[in-house]
Amino acid sequence: MANSSESRHGMWSSRWLFVLAASGSAVGLGNIWKFPYITGENGGGAFVLIYLACVALVGVPIMIAEVLIGREGRQSPINTMRMLTQQHRRKPAWVLVSWMGVLAGFLILSYYGVIAGWALFYVMRMAEGTFNGASADFASQAFNDFLADPWQMVFWQTLFMALTVYIVGRGVVKGLETAIRWFMPMLFVLLFVLLGYGINSGGFAQGVDFMFSFNWESVTGESFLIAMGQAFFTLSLGMGAIMAYGAYLPSSASITQCVVTIAVLDTVVAIAAGLAIFPIVFANGLEPSQGPGLMFVTVPLAFGQLPFGALFGAIFFVLVSFAAITSAISLTEPALAYLVEEYNAKRSRVAISLGVVCWLLGIGTVLSFNEWSDVFVVGDLTIFAFVDYVSQNIMLPLGGFFIALFAAFALPKAVVVSQLGLKGRVWEVTWKVLGGVVAPLGVLTVFIVTIIGIDTIKDWF
Ligand code: TRP
Repeated sequence: MANSSESRHGMWSSRWLFVLAASGSAVGLGNIWKFPYITGENGGGAFVLIYLACVALVGVPIMIAEVLIGREGRQSPINTMRMLTQQHRRKPAWVLVSWMGVLAGFLILSYYGVIAGWALFYVMRMAEGTFNGASADFASQAFNDFLADPWQMVFWQTLFMALTVYIVGRGVVKGLETAIRWFMPMLFVLLFVLLGYGINSGGFAQGVDFMFSFNWESVTGESFLIAMGQAFFTLSLGMGAIMAYGAYLPSSASITQCVVTIAVLDTVVAIAAGLAIFPIVFANGLEPSQGPGLMFVTVPLAFGQLPFGALFGAIFFVLVSFAAITSAISLTEPALAYLVEEYNAKRSRVAISLGVVCWLLGIGTVLSFNEWSDVFVVGDLTIFAFVDYVSQNIMLPLGGFFIALFAAFALPKAVVVSQLGLKGRVWEVTWKVLGGVVAPLGVLTVFIVTIIGIDTIKDWF
């Protein structure tokens, strides 16, 4: 089959829509909920720096690779890889990468829907004024009470999944455009309101210090893996989501420019969220390492102290929920596009089936926080922690590793040169070094450091 210039699933109306959509995918719970809490769990400063290095050196080249492959194939990641391997006579085993991506997408969406449900629940709680003038203890207790109630959690998870399925079913372009155009800018504004509160909370200096002071003691071999996993997660890499979106990118757009814009935007949101949340943590004597509940305790606490806090707090969680929806959509896109292509199925039907599967899997996550909180899959990992760990820290980096290698070595040079618009040898070499060496080697190094352990490595010196 010839490589077409359009995708059957529709096209972004401009490169800006691609940037918006990919940023919508990238900016989500990963930035606002996850980044602060895993930074807290991993001791701050050094972790943040490793994470930033991973975004720049590994994330950006791999995102370029994904978009380039996607645009070249113009189909779902599975069929794109299938077509490209056949066309260029490469081993069919490359296609396994996109199958792993589909699986990772299911796993991630299963718990993503649950946490996004928490955000929906907090829209209601904030709007009721529950947290007006509340103390830190009250905010923590309210969260714990919520976690203890699986029915409540399933209810909100179901609501979130239903919304996602509805939007996905309507089609990427139609469903997404409106949501992203309006909600992303609003999210920025409210994040900065929260940041302003953080700056005045009395804990700002301590918050900044926690996030940026380089303290090696807190770094373990695993911190590297978690930082890298987070870089993949927050940029939506390694499972084909960005590849799927790349398939709808007009041929004239510059991939590199788009990718850099997306990565910068995503990083700014994560850092802003951290800078908003940690001052509140320190000003109120909370624990930075308290885990998944961090955002759900600090943010209500802060808005509870502000004038019109109930209103703005509710709006904040509405925006977080929207950021989560625009991300959830991209988690379904690779599997969805594939099923539509293979079975000529209706998008809406496929969307419902995918939604049901992820919803069912998500029940495991719901129960991890209450009934099954002492059921461990391995070590001290609950079902939620296990699914999260394996998908984010292992499957995504592994997927990204092979995607980068495929783009750098399996695709003919002419394809890459024309897709990336590389003018001259210098740029060709730069791409080869970043995509073919730095990014895959970065992933590999992190895997090795994790397996051997940083302490063993330190002992060698
Ligand atoms: N990047 C999103 C976030 O930070 C989550 C996400 C959306 C994702 N699509 C993805 C993560 C694909 C990994 C792969 O919330």
